[in-house]
Amino acid sequence: MEFVEVVNQRRSLRSFAPVEVSDAVIKNLAAVAGLAPSCSNKQPWRFVFVRSPAMLERMFATLAPGNANWAKQASLIVAVWSQADLDCRTPDGRDYYQFDTGMASALLMLAATEKNLVAHPIAGFDPQAARQVLALPDGVRVITLIIVGGHTQEISSALADWQVKAEKERSARMAFEAFASIV
Ligand SMILES: Cc1cc2nc3c(=O)[nH]c(=O)nc-3n(C[C@H](O)[C@H](O)[C@H](O)COP(=O)(O)O)c2cc1C
Repeated sequence: MEFVEVVNQRRSLRSFAPVEVSDAVIKNLAAVAGLAPSCSNKQPWRFVFVRSPAMLERMFATLAPGNANWAKQASLIVAVWSQADLDCRTPDGRDYYQFDTGMASALLMLAATEKNLVAHPIAGFDPQAARQVLALPDGVRVITLIIVGGHTQEISSALADWQVKAEKERSARMAFEAFASIV
Protein backbone atom coordinates (compact mmCIF):
# COMPACT_ATOMS: atom_id res chain seq x y z
CA MET A 1 0.00 0.00 0.00
CA GLU A 2 1.26 3.50 -0.82
CA PHE A 3 1.98 5.70 2.20
CA VAL A 4 -0.83 8.16 1.39
CA GLU A 5 -3.24 5.27 0.99
CA VAL A 6 -2.31 3.98 4.45
CA VAL A 7 -2.81 7.45 5.95
CA ASN A 8 -6.20 7.72 4.26
CA GLN A 9 -7.29 4.24 5.26
CA ARG A 10 -6.47 4.79 8.95
CA ARG A 11 -9.67 5.64 10.74
CA SER A 12 -10.92 5.26 14.28
CA LEU A 13 -13.55 2.71 13.36
CA ARG A 14 -15.63 0.76 15.86
CA SER A 15 -17.07 -2.24 13.97
CA PHE A 16 -14.71 -5.10 14.58
CA ALA A 17 -14.36 -8.59 13.24
CA PRO A 18 -12.32 -11.06 15.28
CA VAL A 19 -8.78 -11.51 14.03
CA GLU A 20 -5.74 -13.56 15.08
CA VAL A 21 -2.85 -11.23 15.81
CA SER A 22 0.32 -13.30 15.71
CA ASP A 23 3.53 -12.68 17.64
CA ALA A 24 5.16 -11.79 14.29
CA VAL A 25 2.56 -9.08 13.62
CA ILE A 26 2.97 -7.68 17.14
CA LYS A 27 6.75 -7.60 16.74
CA ASN A 28 6.41 -5.85 13.39
CA LEU A 29 4.10 -3.19 14.87
CA ALA A 30 6.58 -2.61 17.68
CA ALA A 31 9.51 -2.46 15.26
CA VAL A 32 7.81 0.19 13.12
CA ALA A 33 6.85 2.22 16.21
CA GLY A 34 10.41 1.95 17.46
CA LEU A 35 11.69 3.78 14.37
CA ALA A 36 10.02 7.02 15.53
CA PRO A 37 12.25 9.99 16.30
CA SER A 38 12.68 10.98 19.94
CA CYS A 39 14.53 13.60 21.91
CA SER A 40 18.18 12.48 22.17
CA ASN A 41 16.94 9.10 20.92
CA LYS A 42 15.53 8.36 24.37
CA GLN A 43 12.76 6.13 22.97
CA PRO A 44 10.42 6.70 25.93
CA TRP A 45 7.48 4.71 24.51
CA ARG A 46 6.43 1.48 26.16
CA PHE A 47 3.77 -0.88 24.83
CA VAL A 48 1.97 -3.77 26.46
CA PHE A 49 0.25 -5.92 23.84
CA VAL A 50 -2.75 -7.40 25.59
CA ARG A 51 -3.95 -10.43 23.65
CA SER A 52 -4.94 -13.22 26.02
CA PRO A 53 -8.72 -13.48 26.53
CA ALA A 54 -8.31 -13.34 30.31
CA MET A 55 -6.23 -10.15 30.22
CA LEU A 56 -8.47 -8.58 27.56
CA GLU A 57 -11.45 -9.21 29.83
CA ARG A 58 -9.67 -7.40 32.68
CA MET A 59 -8.77 -4.47 30.42
CA PHE A 60 -12.37 -4.20 29.19
CA ALA A 61 -13.34 -3.49 32.80
CA THR A 62 -11.21 -0.31 32.71
CA LEU A 63 -13.08 1.20 29.74
CA ALA A 64 -15.49 4.12 29.96
CA PRO A 65 -19.06 3.01 29.14
CA GLY A 66 -19.05 4.86 25.78
CA ASN A 67 -16.05 2.80 24.72
CA ALA A 68 -16.92 -0.50 26.34
CA ASN A 69 -19.89 -1.03 23.99
CA TRP A 70 -17.68 -1.38 20.91
CA ALA A 71 -14.15 -1.97 22.24
CA LYS A 72 -15.13 -5.27 23.83
CA GLN A 73 -15.03 -6.75 20.32
CA ALA A 74 -11.28 -6.07 20.12
CA SER A 75 -8.77 -8.83 19.45
CA LEU A 76 -5.85 -6.86 20.90
CA ILE A 77 -5.37 -3.83 23.09
CA VAL A 78 -2.08 -1.97 22.99
CA ALA A 79 -1.57 -0.20 26.28
CA VAL A 80 0.75 2.74 25.64
CA TRP A 81 2.65 4.03 28.63
CA SER A 82 5.58 6.21 29.46
CA GLN A 83 6.86 8.45 32.18
CA ALA A 84 8.60 11.80 32.24
CA ASP A 85 12.01 10.54 33.32
CA LEU A 86 12.27 8.24 30.31
CA ASP A 87 12.71 11.26 28.04
CA CYS A 88 14.15 14.77 27.83
CA ARG A 89 13.21 17.54 30.18
CA THR A 90 14.74 20.73 28.82
CA PRO A 91 16.46 23.17 31.18
CA ASP A 92 13.39 25.42 30.92
CA GLY A 93 11.11 22.54 31.98
CA ARG A 94 9.68 21.16 28.73
CA ASP A 95 8.84 17.43 28.91
CA TYR A 96 8.88 15.46 25.68
CA TYR A 97 7.79 11.94 26.70
CA GLN A 98 4.17 12.33 25.64
CA PHE A 99 5.09 13.90 22.31
CA ASP A 100 7.61 11.21 21.46
CA THR A 101 5.32 8.41 22.62
CA GLY A 102 2.57 9.89 20.46
CA MET A 103 4.80 9.81 17.41
CA ALA A 104 5.67 6.16 17.99
CA SER A 105 1.99 5.36 18.55
CA ALA A 106 1.05 7.03 15.27
CA LEU A 107 3.55 4.87 13.42
CA LEU A 108 2.19 1.78 15.17
CA MET A 109 -1.36 2.67 14.12
CA LEU A 110 -0.27 3.23 10.52
CA ALA A 111 1.57 -0.10 10.49
CA ALA A 112 -1.59 -1.78 11.81
CA THR A 113 -3.66 -0.05 9.11
CA GLU A 114 -1.32 -1.35 6.45
CA LYS A 115 -2.12 -4.85 7.73
CA ASN A 116 -5.83 -4.09 7.32
CA LEU A 117 -6.33 -3.87 11.06
CA VAL A 118 -8.31 -1.13 12.77
CA ALA A 119 -6.24 0.64 15.44
CA HIS A 120 -8.42 3.04 17.42
CA PRO A 121 -6.75 5.09 20.20
CA ILE A 122 -8.83 6.05 23.21
CA ALA A 123 -8.54 8.28 26.25
CA GLY A 124 -11.82 7.05 27.71
CA PHE A 125 -10.53 4.51 30.22
CA ASP A 126 -9.38 4.51 33.83
CA PRO A 127 -5.58 4.85 33.68
CA GLN A 128 -5.03 3.84 37.31
CA ALA A 129 -7.12 0.71 36.88
CA ALA A 130 -5.29 -0.12 33.63
CA ARG A 131 -1.94 0.39 35.37
CA GLN A 132 -2.98 -2.03 38.09
CA VAL A 133 -4.29 -4.67 35.67
CA LEU A 134 -0.97 -4.53 33.83
CA ALA A 135 1.04 -4.56 37.07
CA LEU A 136 2.92 -1.41 36.06
CA PRO A 137 4.75 0.52 38.75
CA ASP A 138 3.44 3.65 40.47
CA GLY A 139 4.34 6.80 38.59
CA VAL A 140 3.83 5.21 35.19
CA ARG A 141 1.36 7.04 32.97
CA VAL A 142 -0.88 4.89 30.78
CA ILE A 143 -1.40 7.47 28.04
CA THR A 144 -3.74 5.66 25.70
CA LEU A 145 -5.18 2.30 24.84
CA ILE A 146 -5.12 1.41 21.17
CA ILE A 147 -8.06 -0.85 20.46
CA VAL A 148 -7.20 -3.24 17.63
CA GLY A 149 -9.35 -5.59 15.60
CA GLY A 150 -10.23 -6.68 12.13
CA HIS A 151 -12.73 -4.46 10.33
CA THR A 152 -16.19 -5.41 9.21
CA GLN A 153 -18.36 -3.32 6.88
CA GLU A 154 -21.36 -4.50 8.86
CA ILE A 155 -21.89 -1.72 11.39
CA SER A 156 -21.89 -3.01 14.94
CA SER A 157 -25.34 -3.05 16.53
CA ALA A 158 -23.68 -2.00 19.81
CA LEU A 159 -22.97 1.52 18.52
CA ALA A 160 -24.76 4.69 19.57
CA ASP A 161 -26.25 6.84 16.77
CA TRP A 162 -23.31 9.24 16.66
CA GLN A 163 -20.92 6.32 16.50
CA VAL A 164 -22.85 4.85 13.56
CA LYS A 165 -22.55 8.21 11.79
CA ALA A 166 -18.81 8.33 12.49
CA GLU A 167 -18.51 4.83 11.09
CA LYS A 168 -20.01 5.90 7.78
CA GLU A 169 -17.94 8.98 7.12
CA ARG A 170 -14.52 10.22 8.16
CA SER A 171 -14.58 12.86 10.88
CA ALA A 172 -14.37 16.38 9.43
CA ARG A 173 -10.99 18.04 9.25
CA MET A 174 -10.01 21.69 9.66
CA ALA A 175 -9.18 23.79 6.65
CA PHE A 176 -5.49 24.58 6.09
CA GLU A 177 -5.92 28.14 7.38
CA ALA A 178 -7.34 26.91 10.69
CA PHE A 179 -4.24 25.00 11.70
CA ALA A 180 -1.40 26.09 9.44
CA SER A 181 0.19 29.18 8.03
CA ILE A 182 2.97 30.00 5.66
CA VAL A 183 5.15 32.93 6.59
C1 LIG B 1 -5.78 10.89 22.40
C2 LIG B 1 -7.04 10.36 21.73
C3 LIG B 1 -8.10 9.99 22.52
C4 LIG B 1 -9.26 9.46 21.95
N1 LIG B 1 -10.25 8.98 22.76
C5 LIG B 1 -11.30 8.35 22.21
C6 LIG B 1 -12.26 7.72 23.04
O1 LIG B 1 -12.17 7.70 24.27
N2 LIG B 1 -13.30 7.10 22.42
C7 LIG B 1 -13.45 7.07 21.06
O2 LIG B 1 -14.40 6.47 20.58
N3 LIG B 1 -12.53 7.64 20.25
C8 LIG B 1 -11.44 8.27 20.78
N4 LIG B 1 -10.49 8.82 19.97
C9 LIG B 1 -10.63 8.76 18.50
C10 LIG B 1 -10.96 10.15 17.94
O3 LIG B 1 -12.27 10.48 18.22
C11 LIG B 1 -10.64 10.16 16.43
O4 LIG B 1 -9.27 9.95 16.25
C12 LIG B 1 -11.06 11.46 15.76
O5 LIG B 1 -12.44 11.63 15.79
C13 LIG B 1 -10.60 11.51 14.31
O6 LIG B 1 -11.15 10.44 13.60
P1 LIG B 1 -10.23 9.41 12.79
O7 LIG B 1 -9.22 8.85 13.77
O8 LIG B 1 -11.17 8.36 12.29
O9 LIG B 1 -9.54 10.15 11.69
C14 LIG B 1 -9.34 9.35 20.53
C15 LIG B 1 -8.25 9.73 19.75
C16 LIG B 1 -7.11 10.19 20.33
C17 LIG B 1 -5.93 10.53 19.45
